[in-house]
Amino acid sequence: MKPIEKVGIITGGGDCSGLNAVISGVTKTALSKYGIEVIGYRRGYFGLYHNDFIELDADSISGIAHEGGTLIKASNKDNLFNYRIKRENGSYDYEDVSDVAIENMKAEGVDALIVVGGDGTLTSARDFYRKGVPVVGVPKTIDNDLPATDITFGFNTALENIVDALDKIHTTAYSHDRVIVVEVMGRHTGWLALEGGFAGSADAILIPEIPYDLEKVAEKIRRRDAQGKHFSVIVVSEGAKPKDGDVHVREVVDDSPDSVRLGGVGRTITDQLSKIVPEHEVRYTNLGYLQRGGIASQFDRLVGQRFGVAALDLLMQGGAGKMVRYRGRDITHVDLEEVVGTGETGETSEGGEKHVDPEGQIVRAAKSIGISFGDE
Ligand code: F6P
Repeated sequence: MKPIEKVGIITGGGDCSGLNAVISGVTKTALSKYGIEVIGYRRGYFGLYHNDFIELDADSISGIAHEGGTLIKASNKDNLFNYRIKRENGSYDYEDVSDVAIENMKAEGVDALIVVGGDGTLTSARDFYRKGVPVVGVPKTIDNDLPATDITFGFNTALENIVDALDKIHTTAYSHDRVIVVEVMGRHTGWLALEGGFAGSADAILIPEIPYDLEKVAEKIRRRDAQGKHFSVIVVSEGAKPKDGDVHVREVVDDSPDSVRLGGVGRTITDQLSKIVPEHEVRYTNLGYLQRGGIASQFDRLVGQRFGVAALDLLMQGGAGKMVRYRGRDITHVDLEEVVGTGETGETSEGGEKHVDPEGQIVRAAKSIGISFGDE
């Protein structure tokens, strides 16, 4: 096989803090340890298809490691194996355009890819590897829902953002004797709501893994009233669902590998709670994209850079077809085949989503200090 002299980086899926740390880790290692070139494809796989990239060198990556977002932009659309193409009559067709991407790489002399993303992005990385492209994956998502890694970077900064917001929400909830419902992200898993809500002193936390009954939440609010605490903060995961109902789908994005977008359950809960506890004003705040932005936390900067270094080392040592991951306090790796493709090929040995255990330590500890999950 041709030695690797030039590497392309792709950041796919929703952005988060720590992506720039990965870009920095890869580029600095490439320049100082291996003396090879790096380019960054812009807007995820879109850039690979349209051959839209920037050179990554000491100047372009200077000072980015702590910054939120991604220097090379991201997209959570553009599955090149099922790419949406608009026809002249305005209709859409789906085509496999992955060969165009591979030709683009050849034309630019790009020998290998480092692909940073969640399940959808990494599934395409696996598919490029199957077509002979040397690829190493890096796991990213604020949702922390990938089972093959203990932690994805971006999660920690999102938690800091949630806790910061809850500190602020508490003061206004207290001042007005209000119940404030705070919706957070997380897709079909409750990690952000659970860990953010627990650390941020929420009174109730509603997560997808524990279907809720609002009467139970109202009981918690009334118990607090009886203790003279006339305000409550309820953290709701966007994927939370009632005992007898389903999730709130905000939008279906056809040309995205993860097409379902959740959101809005907090508004419904607010309206319902207003009727159940009419003695309170109930207000709603959706933290939305605030969770994904901002200066990366120490943890995400460190893990992001370590992931970047490890991903390039792996590639240079012939470890293509793998994903770096965080296990214990070490960076190890696992075959991409083992960890992705849940949408298309069903469960893999370490695939699926990593869910909160409703009987697990964190939930039990939260219940011990009186946090309601709307179930008992
Ligand atoms: O997966 C990351 C995430 O931020 C989810 O928590 C959220 O459901 C989704 O992306 C939002 O996607 P979009 O950026 O398309 O609104």
